[in-house]
Amino acid sequence: MDYVIEKMISEEALQTRVREVAKEIEKDYAGKNLICVGLLKGSIMFMADLLKNVDMDLAMDFMKVSSYHGGTDSTGVVKILKDVDADLTGKDVLIIEDIIDTGLTLESVKKFLLTKQPNSLKVCSLLDKPSRRKVEMVGEYIGFEIPDEFVVGYGLDYDELHRNLPYIGKVVKK
Ligand code: IMP
Ligand code: MG
Repeated sequence: MDYVIEKMISEEALQTRVREVAKEIEKDYAGKNLICVGLLKGSIMFMADLLKNVDMDLAMDFMKVSSYHGGTDSTGVVKILKDVDADLTGKDVLIIEDIIDTGLTLESVKKFLLTKQPNSLKVCSLLDKPSRRKVEMVGEYIGFEIPDEFVVGYGLDYDELHRNLPYIGKVVKK
């Protein structure tokens, strides 16, 4: 490999922050009809750890989308590869994402999910790179704001590798 991975956020820091975010969600969604929709595959580690710490009744579902950044497809910037299974009508939907970068993916996903008439629709992302935004996108729950670096680990990949790292590291070219 022509790069090394430098640790940016430790496993301990991740776990501490993930628990804090979980408790915020638990408080905000008390008594609501919460369904968490994870975006595959990047969100899996975060979603698993997060929701183990949300002590309430909730449902889990998944979507898979492919990015069309800069593409010419007229239907939008992402293609839906897997839709949710559940009926979201009247539900309080929380999208679980690994990272908000340009914001284009979430903009399309939100637009798509809104057509399903949820009672509410919010975003929870482990990481946020606000300096890279191309469209306005604000996550209601954010684990960590990070600078403009390419990161891997804890679900995030570089060419499908490194999702299994228990920490977040930045990719540094050798
Ligand atoms: P956006 O549409 O530009 O906001 O892109 C979001 C998606 O790009 C995320 O779900 C990731 O799959 C991917 N992505 C963006 N930045 C990174 C990164 O630093 N590491 C790994 N994947 C990233
Ligand atoms: Mg992703």
